[in-house]
Amino acid sequence: MTPALHPVASAHGKIILLGEHAVVHGEPALAAGLPDGITLTARDRDRKSDPILVSIPDWELELELLPDSEHPVARACLEVLAHCDGPLTGWIIEGRSRLPARAGLGSSAALSVALARLVLGPDAPLPEVVDASMAGERVFHGNPSGIDSEVSARGGVLQYARGHDVEAVHTDMRLALVVAPSGVPRSTAEQVAKVAAKLERFPALAGPVVRTLGQTAAEGRTALERGDPVRLGELMTFAHALLRAIDVSSPVLDRLCDAALQAGALGAKLTGAGHGGCVIALVRTENAAHVRRALGDAAFDVTIDAFPRPPKSSC
Ligand code: PMV
Repeated sequence: MTPALHPVASAHGKIILLGEHAVVHGEPALAAGLPDGITLTARDRDRKSDPILVSIPDWELELELLPDSEHPVARACLEVLAHCDGPLTGWIIEGRSRLPARAGLGSSAALSVALARLVLGPDAPLPEVVDASMAGERVFHGNPSGIDSEVSARGGVLQYARGHDVEAVHTDMRLALVVAPSGVPRSTAEQVAKVAAKLERFPALAGPVVRTLGQTAAEGRTALERGDPVRLGELMTFAHALLRAIDVSSPVLDRLCDAALQAGALGAKLTGAGHGGCVIALVRTENAAHVRRALGDAAFDVTIDAFPRPPKSSC
């Protein structure tokens, strides 16, 4: 008998709020979970010996998980299922997502986290879910840092630095953001290599920029903890200028940031590797629709409930 799947599971997408690229060089970064990243539902296939069929129309993805498939999504899904001793045949898995795929919003981690939860169930411990997701993420990213899987499984805002445990950022602040996909594809590896080349060519110039980018993440955490959206917005705009200085922005991303700021956003920056992918704008809730309209049809707004502070003890 093939093992069963739970009927439904979901996971967050992710954005990098501050610190991308700097995190590659040992600095901290802040990442946040995007609610409603993906929801998967599972039902029996007529013949239990048929391969699992995965269908996610929003990503124009429909494929059977054949053991010899070279498709990275099929291979990643099979890795996750094998890692959790899940079924390898006999199911139809359908997905709904409002995230664009391959735009730096953590779509692959969201898929692998939700798939792990279909096998392990809604109450599975987070570390187990993250481990299973990492088995899939290794297919896409070789040696992933794990931040995408963590944030996809947990949501909220997390601080991440190489060689340190992931830390949840506690705040009462609700983050109102507009996410604007540029529609331009990006290659994380290319942009990371570009920054490495800048650091090698201009160590005295690019080094301080990268360290200052890390500092924006550290100060952004403090702004979040103090519940200061104005300061967080300023830090985001500051970070975009620094990312531009190390040449990972582009005219399209710069234009989107300018349009967001002109429409009254508190701050705006590229998120993730840059060159393509998305821009994020921090907004006041009452202004979110206005900023979204300024950023074009593909833009969407999200509200992120960060982790509340632990209650103060009464004694
Ligand atoms: O666009 P993404 O989600 O691949 O983000 C890449 C973030 C970088 O800091 C540029 C690279 C990394 O591995 O942290």
